[in-house]
Amino acid sequence: MNKHISHIRTEYMLKELDESMVAASPFVFFHKWFEEALESKVPEPNAMCLSTASPEGMPSSRIVLLKGADDRGFSFYTNYHSTKGRMIEANSNVCLNFFWPDLERQVRIEGKAEKLSPPDSDAYFASRPRGSQLGAWVSNQSEEVPGRKHLEELLLTAEKNFEGVEVPRPAHWGGFIVVPVRIEFWQGRENRLHDRILYKKLDTGSWGISRLAP
Ligand SMILES: Cc1cc2nc3c(=O)[nH]c(=O)nc-3n(C[C@H](O)[C@H](O)[C@H](O)COP(=O)(O)O)c2cc1C
Repeated sequence: MNKHISHIRTEYMLKELDESMVAASPFVFFHKWFEEALESKVPEPNAMCLSTASPEGMPSSRIVLLKGADDRGFSFYTNYHSTKGRMIEANSNVCLNFFWPDLERQVRIEGKAEKLSPPDSDAYFASRPRGSQLGAWVSNQSEEVPGRKHLEELLLTAEKNFEGVEVPRPAHWGGFIVVPVRIEFWQGRENRLHDRILYKKLDTGSWGISRLAP
């Protein structure tokens, strides 16, 4: 089994990434790559790995969905009382990672997570399907549950409680925006000589651009 795993390898030949190809703003360049991920039909192009760390430095990673990207940062929505929500509350340093295998690309984003404003969270919550809105009320995300049946019963109760009315956003559910200080664009290349272009936020507020060894 282990032998089999050790033989899995892909040679990356598709594309290249050069300093001359990137925009001055990492946000502009992210949007270019994100559009290309959409066009290439990568499954779940907005799925990203979010890593948090406890104040003692114990890391924890999980997938969340990117729901917004602008010149301030990258946003996602979750339960503020979940493991990730509590970790961010105690240590706002986080890392996001996109892997788009069809394009042989990854994007690494490091920065600080900040809560989105309640009106921003309200607006996104209102746009969700009703089933997802009810689910936000039912799930004490990351808490132990006695079984699946328990969750389904809670959902039935929530359906009754909110029958005929709009489902309001629970106060413990909302968005975070990751305000980046480092964004790395990685393009797989032949012979493991991958292209890595790093944007680093400077004290002046502008972005420095450098190439990293693969
Ligand atoms: C494709 C995919 C998308 C997901 N999107 C989200 C999301 O946007 N927000 C969220 O809270 N959890 C999302 N999850 C579930 C998380 O990975 C995780 O199980 C959950 O948030 C609990 O994490 P925590 O206990 O570390 O807080 C997603 C999972 C997958 C596989």
